[in-house]
Amino acid sequence: MILRWVRRDLTVDIARSELFWADGRQCFIVLGVRWPARPPGRDVSQAATLAWRAMAESDLDAVCAVAHAAFPNHHEDRAVFADRLALNPGGCFVLAAGGDAALGYLIAYPWRLDDAPPLNTVVGRLPDAPAVLYLHDLALAPEARGGGHAARIVEQLAAHAAQARWPAIALVAVNQAAPFWARLGFLPRDSADMSRKLSSYGEDARYMVRPLSGGEGRGGCERRSAKPFG
Ligand SMILES: CC(C)(COP(=O)(O)OP(=O)(O)OC[C@H]1O[C@@H](n2cnc3c(N)ncnc32)[C@H](O)[C@@H]1OP(=O)(O)O)[C@@H](O)C(=O)NCCC(=O)NCCS
Repeated sequence: MILRWVRRDLTVDIARSELFWADGRQCFIVLGVRWPARPPGRDVSQAATLAWRAMAESDLDAVCAVAHAAFPNHHEDRAVFADRLALNPGGCFVLAAGGDAALGYLIAYPWRLDDAPPLNTVVGRLPDAPAVLYLHDLALAPEARGGGHAARIVEQLAAHAAQARWPAIALVAVNQAAPFWARLGFLPRDSADMSRKLSSYGEDARYMVRPLSGGEGRGGCERRSAKPFG
């Protein structure tokens, strides 16, 4: 006779044996133990300990590794990440478990509305009259995805940006990620000018803007505070 023992996600099949121990107790044979299949791309144990923290220069190698895997068609050099970190450290974050190598990153900095820096370009300085917070990149290694970490850092960024009186966050959606951004409140914003500027980002690139409450100014997208995000 086969007995099945189920506890939470664990299933154990046990058979009663014909054998007996010397003291007369019956032997049981474990036929199989089954754990639930792990969803692809999710390391449950690790996801539990991951947390966002400020990016440091020592994170740049790990950031590049995540970026190169996440954006195979949108390569950017290490110098580009180093440039943005130097220009706006308060808008750069990594997702890591304690002191382990980063498994995700977000980079944001002040920029002009209806504009995006060309791909893989060291800009050297921020615009004199930025109007929005520009979310340059958000990427997670596959094993860190699906835990809500991406949505969490975007909401954290939005809260800080609204507090600093930025009227909006803008980004260029690539990798077919426009639905992901739409769920987080980003709206497509089309202009002929922008389509030309996005030529280096590929055909699926979409300029999207998330208005923030609390930011006011001319045209609805001019910040009032001179203080950069951070
Ligand atoms: C986009 C990315 C950061 C999302 O990471 P994630 O860990 O899946 O995000 P979250 O766990 O916070 O997911 C939030 C929700 O968005 C959904 N989602 C994730 N990626 C999506 C996509 N491409 N399209 C639509 N929805 C998406 C998730 O399923 C989740 O939904 P749920 O709340 O119903 O479960 C991650 O997939 C990634 O690094 N991709 C490669 C880099 C990339 O494309 N970045 C964006 C380019 S602009």
